[in-house]
Amino acid sequence: MLRSQEQIPQASTAPHCFQKMQWITNPLAYMEAASQECGDIFKAPIIGKYPYVLLVSHPQALQEIFANHHQFISPPNPLVQPIVGDYSLFVLEGERHRRERKLLMPSFHGERILAYGQLISNLTEKVMTQLHPGQVFTARDLIQEISLEVILQAVFGIHSGERFNELKQEIITLTDGFRSPLKSGALFFPSLQKDLGAWSPWGSFLRNKGRISQLLLAEIQERRQEGNPTRSDILSLLLETKDESGEGMTDEQLRDELITLLLAGQETTATAISWGLYWIYKLPEVRDKLHQELASLGDKATPMEIVSLPYLTAVCQETLRIYPVAILTVPREVKEPVELMGYQLEIGTRIYGCIYLTHHRPDLYPQPKQFKPERFLDRQFTPYQFLPFGGGIRRCLGEALALFEMKLVLAKIVFNYQLTLADKQPEYPQRRGVTLAPARGVRMMMQG
Ligand code: HEM
Repeated sequence: MLRSQEQIPQASTAPHCFQKMQWITNPLAYMEAASQECGDIFKAPIIGKYPYVLLVSHPQALQEIFANHHQFISPPNPLVQPIVGDYSLFVLEGERHRRERKLLMPSFHGERILAYGQLISNLTEKVMTQLHPGQVFTARDLIQEISLEVILQAVFGIHSGERFNELKQEIITLTDGFRSPLKSGALFFPSLQKDLGAWSPWGSFLRNKGRISQLLLAEIQERRQEGNPTRSDILSLLLETKDESGEGMTDEQLRDELITLLLAGQETTATAISWGLYWIYKLPEVRDKLHQELASLGDKATPMEIVSLPYLTAVCQETLRIYPVAILTVPREVKEPVELMGYQLEIGTRIYGCIYLTHHRPDLYPQPKQFKPERFLDRQFTPYQFLPFGGGIRRCLGEALALFEMKLVLAKIVFNYQLTLADKQPEYPQRRGVTLAPARGVRMMMQG
């Protein structure tokens, strides 16, 4: 029998502000308790102005949401809009969103990605050779140097000079601004989004974002004047784009799209690679098996050969399963009355796919808290059972690039360097803006 939306269980009976605080400070505990109590779908009063949103973790329900994008539309994302702006791919809807995705997609697939292989390899070598034996370092910070350079190369092509150094620094400052759960709080409480001067958290964020905007606008203007038709980077591609009435993109539209790619493209990948390093160096059997697989290729292996290795692929998948960088998909909204998991949903209801809970379902992943790459060798998972990059019309644009980079960097480090974990205590996941990252950034020591 079809039940009404009212009957969907509440994540908790605690006051809403308390639930929101727990969601910000300890999202995994919040979700796990709610799923034990309520199962595959529950109401959670955790996002912005909404009395509640629905969190869903059943693969069948996720399939319906992703496939029926006319009933479950993809509205602007209120959490990231203040960061990426009104013209970002994360915020665009409908036809405009579809067109812009189509335009950007080739830059993150096939041949274009292969071209980044040498760059990724060189950058990994560059950052690793900076370290001397005995040196302790934070893997996440080190890897961010690689992922930031890669995305700058993809977006701008050849880049160097004062403007780019400044841009890199400002981007790191911006992402570091959301490093801890406390600092991330303003994204979830719109009332805290107030400019109370340069020293206030939101005020300093706005100034930082303003400086990034100025640097990008200056670059856009220079590129418009340069008008070089031989360049194949993403900015050149966007500069050539015209809409159906023959209009090109405005400077502000271009700027928001560039910020989106620069931010989405490096934070997430750096986090995923540092988690990968953590598991590989925490579990000697994983490291040995991986090393053996890499050794079977020898040291002249091509990027294509490396990224096709089955055990390396399984290690990356398990890394993205156990602590997915994005714990939720971006939001969906009910456009017309629709049934989901036996409930009749009302127009306007906001729904999030809960990636973390789906990845921890014991029916799919026995002993879900254990890191076992073999599970990905033993069976295949559908895109609704394993979804670190989301799904449907908003599925991550950078998935192929992220996986390519993750595999190459991990392979290069494991094969060529001896490292150990520097901390005795286990690393643990912590909120970092809208993502989940290792709380201490994975402290490691270079052995040789
Ligand atoms: C391990 C690394 C990454 C992870 C885990 C990740 C995860 C995600 C997830 C979960 C979504 C939302 C999908 C949905 O709700 O259905 C998303 C969207 C997006 N990602 Fe990624 N991402 C990663 C790397 C990248 C990279 C390298 C780029 C480079 C450009 C990128 C660009 C984007 C963009 C532009 C969107 C918005 C797509 C849209 O709204 O149409 N991501 N990502």
